[in-house]
Amino acid sequence: MIILGIESSCDDTAAAVIENGKVVSSVVSSQDLLHQRFGGVVPELASRRHMEAVTIVVEEALKQAGFSLAQIELICVTQGPGLIGSLLVGFSYAKSLSFTLGIPFVGVDHMAGHLLSAFLEKDVPDFPFIALIVSGGTTALFKVDDYLEFTLLGATRDDAAGEAFDKISRYLKLGYPGGPHVSRHAEYGDPSFLKLPRAWLEEGSLDFSFSGLKTSVLNHCNTLRMSETLTDQRIDDVCASFQQAVVEVLVEKAIQAARIYDLETIVLGGGVSANRILREQMTIGCSEKGITLCLPAIENCTDNAAMIAFAGSKMFEFGVRGNFDDDVFSRSHLGR
Ligand code: KG4
Repeated sequence: MIILGIESSCDDTAAAVIENGKVVSSVVSSQDLLHQRFGGVVPELASRRHMEAVTIVVEEALKQAGFSLAQIELICVTQGPGLIGSLLVGFSYAKSLSFTLGIPFVGVDHMAGHLLSAFLEKDVPDFPFIALIVSGGTTALFKVDDYLEFTLLGATRDDAAGEAFDKISRYLKLGYPGGPHVSRHAEYGDPSFLKLPRAWLEEGSLDFSFSGLKTSVLNHCNTLRMSETLTDQRIDDVCASFQQAVVEVLVEKAIQAARIYDLETIVLGGGVSANRILREQMTIGCSEKGITLCLPAIENCTDNAAMIAFAGSKMFEFGVRGNFDDDVFSRSHLGR
């Protein structure tokens, strides 16, 4: 089956073509430059840019795949969670294509895309597994029993990990999106420079919390700034200390989830899983515990439409069909 995937939940316009579960093309148009000077995504600008980009991105994905629109048999599109204006662009576009071409469409939860992104790789994980999804909007642990059987085990109670990276970066004026900038500075810093809190929460809790950590970093920076000692080296040290605190909690909680549910595989997803130290420390932690770690390629971890096409294809196999009166949603209830 030839499937077109469309993703526009936040600030990336993406389209992909998959054929019989294999990715044939995957195109992502990033809005990073547009939002950079604001230090974060401006929703109104994001939806306007999606409107400009969506046709071009879909045409490019079809061109790279060597297919025409007439050959597409199913459209899978992100229905939520995300920014409503952004979601509406991709969702309305997909509905119009579906109507015009006379083919079905399926609305996909963006989180399901991330949870199944490991299936875009050559070596796919065995069910059941633990999935840690860490992005700008989400930090959550799921138990995945089958393609569409997800149980939410824990989620962030405040900031998502990526959001914390972005906010620290904005405060230190390092650039947007913050994760890659903070991690680049962290390469030259001392992770033990600041003693930062780790929010382990109640015993056995698989929830996360990063706002206390973020506030602590900002307080330390204010003190350094007031004493005029927030030098370039200190910025690197702050970034390294912050990154270490985030990574330690993510690794520990993911392994704890595998231990509680007696599972042998952990899958990582979401934009923050591009972080080198997270990948490295997760690899070490899992190998020490005899857990198989599935680390999708970075382009499959960050927002893309191939994962939406794949998740939608499974939904379609299970009989899910989109209706023209379906609407987008801003919050995910997946696995609850
Ligand atoms: O999954 P994603 O592409 O988009 C959504 O949030 O849905 O994730 C983007 C997030 C941003 O917060 C960005 O700062 C973070 O992923 N990120 C990173 C790294 N690369 C991207 N965070 C830490 N280290 C990185 N290398």
